[in-house]
Amino acid sequence: MEWKHRHVLDLKDWKREDILFLLDQAKNMDNLIDRPIKKVPALRGKLVVNLFFEASTRTRVSFELAEKLLSADVVNWSASGSSVSKGETLRDTAWTLEAMGADAVVVRHGASGSAHYLARKLKRAVVFNGGDGAYSHPTQALLDAYTAWKSFPNLEGRKMAILGDVLHSRVARSDIQVFRTLGCEIVLSGPETLMPFDVKSLGVTYEPDPWKAVKNADIVYLLRIQRERQEEGLFPSLDEYHLRFGADEKLVSKAKEGALVMHPGPINRRVEIDSSIADGTQSRILQQVRSGVAVRMALLYLCLGGVMA
Ligand code: CP
Repeated sequence: MEWKHRHVLDLKDWKREDILFLLDQAKNMDNLIDRPIKKVPALRGKLVVNLFFEASTRTRVSFELAEKLLSADVVNWSASGSSVSKGETLRDTAWTLEAMGADAVVVRHGASGSAHYLARKLKRAVVFNGGDGAYSHPTQALLDAYTAWKSFPNLEGRKMAILGDVLHSRVARSDIQVFRTLGCEIVLSGPETLMPFDVKSLGVTYEPDPWKAVKNADIVYLLRIQRERQEEGLFPSLDEYHLRFGADEKLVSKAKEGALVMHPGPINRRVEIDSSIADGTQSRILQQVRSGVAVRMALLYLCLGGVMA
């Protein structure tokens, strides 16, 4: 299959065959990670800059690891300690790094649309969106799909319940795109104040009762409650949220036997998820983290024209 995605900005234009091809490539990368000598020369001579304006553990570290396993040269840039504090803009920062030879930029930024903006402004470098505002987190959705696909090779007709703060979640938006394209039925649940107003146009349903939403689900996907937005008064308190929507053994027992429990991380224990669930046998949370390395390796390899010889 000919790879036609120059950048990875969102998943709007991704077709089913693109996703399935990527998942197959990620599986090859996963096999590589299991080898005693993991490093391959596929991206030797390429320079990748990780440009993080917002905090991150999983996305930043797994991109860095993926780049290093493919033998790229890696520069990690973070806003703190940079010339941003002297007023340098996103565009000038990116142009500066491109002028130093960056072949690719991984960007995380609080502004929706920032990855698209950089892709328009940069002349040569490939852009990977590591999460922009509440808009998109495409590599997270692809690693989620990869994790689910390992358990359910055919996702067609599977029910996925997504619980929590959908309104502020770039992960939810991207997951909806990728899992719908793979044929899943998606039900959202959470306080009505944390739902986007355009739920119907997303092609999903909203069920305010989490017990009904989770009933017979194959995948229970929990979102982080964004504590930083608590002051906005979108729901009464974390305790009340936990009582009504927190995933515990009783709630998860309503899903199908063997249902997968997923969460993009970082998790808030005793808020959206109890430890018995986060650390239980159905949890795929740490597998998601591991999938992040394989999926990001596959994306870097495909978009940067890697050579495996
Ligand atoms: N899931 C996710 O994006 O985690 P980080 O914020 O740690 O990168």
